[in-house]
Amino acid sequence: MTTQEILDILQRDIHSAVFATVDDQCLPQTCVIDLMLSDGEGLYFLTARGKSFYHRLMVRPYVAISGRKGEDTLSSVAISVQGAVRSIGKERLEEIFKKNPYMAKIYPTEQSRDALEVFQLYRGKGEYFDLSQQPPFRQTFSFGGETFHQTGYRINPDKCIGCQGCRSVCPSGCISSTIPRVIDPSHCLHCGNCFRICPVKAVEKLD
Ligand SMILES: Cc1cc2nc3c(=O)[nH]c(=O)nc-3n(C[C@H](O)[C@H](O)[C@H](O)COP(=O)(O)O)c2cc1C
Repeated sequence: MTTQEILDILQRDIHSAVFATVDDQCLPQTCVIDLMLSDGEGLYFLTARGKSFYHRLMVRPYVAISGRKGEDTLSSVAISVQGAVRSIGKERLEEIFKKNPYMAKIYPTEQSRDALEVFQLYRGKGEYFDLSQQPPFRQTFSFGGETFHQTGYRINPDKCIGCQGCRSVCPSGCISSTIPRVIDPSHCLHCGNCFRICPVKAVEKLD
């Protein structure tokens, strides 16, 4: 899946997501915020200047977002993104109200919309995690110039002795039958069973 496709699912299908910010006491705060637009430049949401959420964004312009689509755990996809935000003022406000007509019920008049500011999440990275397929599927992504490194575990091919230890404890069956063993990162749960059982410490933690 492309990054744009993942951001579109977050914006269009999940739409209301949990946003984490940091307050003046350096404590985490969460609130539910709607994702109004997505494009090649990132994600867009809005808030009112009087809100504590607005204050937190202006003081520390970073967010972590998580959203989930699905009826229950085994039919769900979750998308998480962390990154940097900036206010773009009233830019794209009209477009947001056109694309999300329910907003006119919350802010019915032009005067009431005066309080609103649009924010852009312009640089970020994240993960798509799909529990509706077995084994689960995960994919990392980034945009706006952000880089990410692979997290989880890898097997050092120079140390692997080809025993069955890691394969016997892997819940998602994502370790190769070939030697040296290789972990498929798109299905790895990061449980660490392989790391703990390996008799020659060939499994390395990446983060
Ligand atoms: C489904 C849903 C969507 C919401 N979307 C937004 C939004 O897009 N922008 C916003 O400012 N508040 C939105 N809210 C309200 C915020 O979650 C609420 O104002 C929150 O308490 C803000 O945090 P604060 O009180 O720390 O400022 C939404 C609430 C719900 C239930």
